[in-house]
Amino acid sequence: MTIHSNFSLKKYNTFGIEAKAKQFVAAHSTEDLKTILQQHASEPKFILGGGSNMLLTQDIKALVIHVDLKGKKILKEDEDFVWVESMAGENWHEFVLWTIDQNFGGLENMSLIPGNVGTTPVQNIGAYGTEIKDTFVSCEAINSVTQEMKTFTKEECRFGYRESIFKHEVKDQFIITSVVFKLTKRNHHINISYGDITKELEKEGVITPTLKDVSNAVIAIRQSKLPDPKELGNSGSFFKNPIIPKEAYEKIKALHPEMPHYVVSETDVKVPAGWLIEKAGFKGKRFGDAGIHKNQALVLVNYGNATGQEILNVSKNIQATILKEFGIAIEAEVNVI
Ligand code: EPU
Repeated sequence: MTIHSNFSLKKYNTFGIEAKAKQFVAAHSTEDLKTILQQHASEPKFILGGGSNMLLTQDIKALVIHVDLKGKKILKEDEDFVWVESMAGENWHEFVLWTIDQNFGGLENMSLIPGNVGTTPVQNIGAYGTEIKDTFVSCEAINSVTQEMKTFTKEECRFGYRESIFKHEVKDQFIITSVVFKLTKRNHHINISYGDITKELEKEGVITPTLKDVSNAVIAIRQSKLPDPKELGNSGSFFKNPIIPKEAYEKIKALHPEMPHYVVSETDVKVPAGWLIEKAGFKGKRFGDAGIHKNQALVLVNYGNATGQEILNVSKNIQATILKEFGIAIEAEVNVI
């Protein structure tokens, strides 16, 4: 394993931000990870997966360990289900396409989400009515201090909306090395309840959608709304959709009856941050090389040479405006480093 010094991370974060790692090493196996952790026990470390959910606002004065473990396999199966294991460094979308090719159901609504498999449990990724927790069985992780392997069951992961134990109680303590999903082999639960999917399938004239049809519809929707990180640096949704008390929602609704919303409990309502940001006039705006995407206001973009700090400033400007105009504090979904 080669340890690089003063290493550019531009190609390792989907925002395409230029920032340097003091040191950088790629781990291709669990053994590699153990060796690196042992040999650099006393040094500060930073774990990097697909780099699709972070904003680098400074150089990283640590040893950056890029988790690049590859491989996927079927662990077991019965007539109805298959248990599939993917190593952490597999590209998520390629993994999803592979499951669809095998006619394994459950991940199709999450097609084209950027990033690697190993980081999907950290924020319980989700799209179009499905979340990772719906098919997740367990994940293996290595303790970065003791180098012991631990299995986290679904219950132990404490999944919530873009939330898990890996963001809280055990933050920075474990490196996820592989994830197991339980997928359907037949009687697939085709979930096209999300309005955009239904519309897209109608447009394509699909009446009884297959897994592939759903995946293709999701891909088409995402491509029409969300920028491709290869063409325009971004980290998907920059903010979480805020969950606010019903009373607060009622007050905003009185002024904006058209505001979309989802009831999440008897007391709380989730409102789309993208809608709030658009309403506040930010959609499509550009501040130097940092901007707000023209088709989806929840996505901040790097037009080329924006610094992380510039993007962070835009995000703070948006947060302050939404707080002032709607009385809602919106929280970043990406990790600001
Ligand atoms: N909206 C606007 N203006 C905008 C964007 C959205 O008015 O600029 C409105 C839409 O018209 C719609 C509502 O807000 O009524 C919701 O929009 P959309 O369906 O695009 O989804 P979202 O809530 O903005 C979430 C996820 C996305 C995921 C989509 C689809 C979060 C933070 N984001 O976005 O996830 O793809 O739903 O399920 O929950 C990501 O996490 O990186 C991500 C892209």
